[in-house]
Amino acid sequence: MPLRVVVAGATGVVGRTLLPLLRERGHHVTALVRHAGRLDGTAPVDDVAVADLLDPAGLSRELRRAAPDVVIDQTSGFGKADQDEGLRRTAQLRERGAKHLVDAAVEVGARRIIGQSMTAAYRPHGHDVLDEESPLWTDAPGCWGSAVRALAAMEEALLTCPDIEGVALRYGALYGPNTHYAPGGAIHERVCGSELPLVYDGVGLTSFTHVDDAAGAVLEMLTNGEPGTYNVVDNEPAESTEWLPAYARMAGGPAPVSLTLDQAKAQLDWLTVHQLTEQRGATNFRLRETMGWRPTWPSWREGFANLFGLWAG
Ligand SMILES: NC(=O)c1ccc[n+]([C@@H]2O[C@H](COP(=O)([O-])OP(=O)(O)OC[C@H]3O[C@@H](n4cnc5c(N)ncnc54)[C@H](OP(=O)(O)O)[C@@H]3O)[C@@H](O)[C@H]2O)c1
Repeated sequence: MPLRVVVAGATGVVGRTLLPLLRERGHHVTALVRHAGRLDGTAPVDDVAVADLLDPAGLSRELRRAAPDVVIDQTSGFGKADQDEGLRRTAQLRERGAKHLVDAAVEVGARRIIGQSMTAAYRPHGHDVLDEESPLWTDAPGCWGSAVRALAAMEEALLTCPDIEGVALRYGALYGPNTHYAPGGAIHERVCGSELPLVYDGVGLTSFTHVDDAAGAVLEMLTNGEPGTYNVVDNEPAESTEWLPAYARMAGGPAPVSLTLDQAKAQLDWLTVHQLTEQRGATNFRLRETMGWRPTWPSWREGFANLFGLWAG
């Protein structure tokens, strides 16, 4: 059945991917943007609503006009900002913006709200990949702790409101066109500039999510499935000692240098060391079993190759 859908973050990497998919399925799509000029004039939408998630009055006005059945939040503050600034802006959005969006969605009688969370927020423990029951690392050090607490607050706003079905999709490291992993993106620059090393005495795991799969999971959950949290990741959590050299090779960059843990701590920021040495991956078992979802890109190996034009399909 065609639905009225509002997409917040319609100019972002996942939002842009999602718009044509929603339209192809016959839904009425309203792009919610901060600046109308930021939306590509050819973007496949039925309507444009202009509001900032940090402005509850504007948001409420625009949602009343759009009258959505489903509200999708794909906003984040990462964009082109550096790591600390991206975390700070995203935390503000998650803490306040998400709550404003839930309130506005409830006010207009929307049935479901789907938000963007992330698997990197799990507290690392053991050697296994983590599922949705694993705790978020809300007492992590420094600005990562603030970011995870904001994420937890966003999930709580989505999942505990009795008047709307809340779904939090926890993405892995997002890659694909226009992401940090694409040519010119932050990770690409760091790898090609020999700024991301292999760290010998620690093995962090990363679960990856192609933007196509992030958008595909939103479609899957548009009306179906129980409210709750779902990991949206590929099938192959990868150790940094595995994905980093493979990525460097495919990107045409130099082989990563090797550092000891002490050297890495002295030369890199805390979050990068954490990601490379102790972060845990996540399992997509819940989404696979309950929804029959399958990633289009089941392995980052193929996805990275595709990103660099090396995948013959
Ligand atoms: N999503 C994550 O958890 C995450 C984590 C780490 C790294 N990254 C990286 O960050 C890059 C960007 O990916 P992304 O999809 O997360 O972000 P994105 O592509 O920058 O999209 C963010 C969206 O949020 C919107 N937005 C930001 N603040 C807003 C506000 N106050 N009110 C309304 N809309 C607002 C932006 O609109 P404007 O056009 O107005 O700015 C944009 O549409 C990727 O390379 C990804 O790899 C993402």
